[in-house]
Amino acid sequence: MSRSLRYAIVGAGMMGHEHIRNLELVEGAEVVAIADPHSESRWWSQQVSKHELAEFTDVESLLAGASIDAVIVASPNHTHREVLTPLFDTDLAIFCEKPLCTTLEDARWVADRAANHRGLFWVGMEYRYMAPVARLIDEVHGGAIGTLRMLAIREHRYPFLPKVNNWNRFSRNSGGTFVEKCCHFFDLMRLVTRDEPALVYASAAQDLNHLDETYAGETPDILDNGFVTIDFERGSRALLDLCMFAEASENEQEIVATGDLGKIEASVPDGRVVVGTRSPRKLESEVLAIDPTVLAAGAHFGSTFVEHREFIRAVEQDLPASVTAEDGLRAVAIGVAAERSAVAREPIAMGSLL
Ligand SMILES: NC(=O)c1ccc[n+]([C@@H]2O[C@H](COP(=O)([O-])OP(=O)(O)OC[C@H]3O[C@@H](n4cnc5c(N)ncnc54)[C@H](O)[C@@H]3O)[C@@H](O)[C@H]2O)c1
Repeated sequence: MSRSLRYAIVGAGMMGHEHIRNLELVEGAEVVAIADPHSESRWWSQQVSKHELAEFTDVESLLAGASIDAVIVASPNHTHREVLTPLFDTDLAIFCEKPLCTTLEDARWVADRAANHRGLFWVGMEYRYMAPVARLIDEVHGGAIGTLRMLAIREHRYPFLPKVNNWNRFSRNSGGTFVEKCCHFFDLMRLVTRDEPALVYASAAQDLNHLDETYAGETPDILDNGFVTIDFERGSRALLDLCMFAEASENEQEIVATGDLGKIEASVPDGRVVVGTRSPRKLESEVLAIDPTVLAAGAHFGSTFVEHREFIRAVEQDLPASVTAEDGLRAVAIGVAAERSAVAREPIAMGSLL
């Protein structure tokens, strides 16, 4: 390709800014425009960007007024379908932030349209591209632990951050915590196991966070802790251990894959990967270093930079998306199952949803 891909960011808030900062570091990319109804977000974007960006208030005026090759959709979760609708009438390369949508109906609609889209369609699943996580995936798929039996993902972190209009305080906007945040981990589970979930059981609650906040007289309704167990079709099992009032943690994410021959542990942000075998018992530990400039460009351990490089490679070489809309839909579906299971207090068969 002789020139850079010209990008627009639709939804220029916190994550939109991470995309701007990372695309400025990636060869072959140039952010030229933003579309956002919130003037403060547009103003901040101009401060974040090294170049002046063309400003639009919505996706329709962006399409009418900007000359672009690719779009990042980083608007709130519940707006993804409406933002994507006019984009599907173009041949632009589309990168849509997770979760694909907040409901199964919308996610299925988007996945069907994406399958016929004339350009690349890619779902942002940054956790796949965190260096220790990527190493864990490679080691498991390379056979380092034999047949995978158990996959445990722990995310212990701080509460949800404030957002523009605090859209993320209500499940109707975000899809609920297991859709909004945990679609990353459900996506990883499908990727690592190379299998599909059969049964999902969640025990979860909103015990601490945001209970002292009110918006137009309404208290936020989002889960802040829980366990989700998942039986996969071919017999492996996975566990998500989520706590969002765990600032007192050394790591935010700890992933453990155990097979019949050994075990791999990956943690972020310490960057450590430990590969162990049972017989003879041997442990090899490594800390993966990330370029500090890339690290500073986002809050996702350098993964946004890597994902953009892959996205551009796919556009330039006409490759299929590594993270498809179908992947996005399936991650949402597991999240929906977990949300429903937590309320019903019973396991949900995935066959009843998809
Ligand atoms: N991959 C990740 O790890 C990750 C991390 C954070 C956020 N996200 C995702 O990124 C998206 C944005 O989240 P955020 O944290 O940046 O939220 P945010 O509230 O900081 O920013 C969202 C922006 O979208 C704008 N917006 C609202 N409706 C719009 C519309 N119809 N068209 C265009 N812009 C619109 C808002 O004015 C705001 O500026 C969400 O889908 C979120 O789930 C992903």
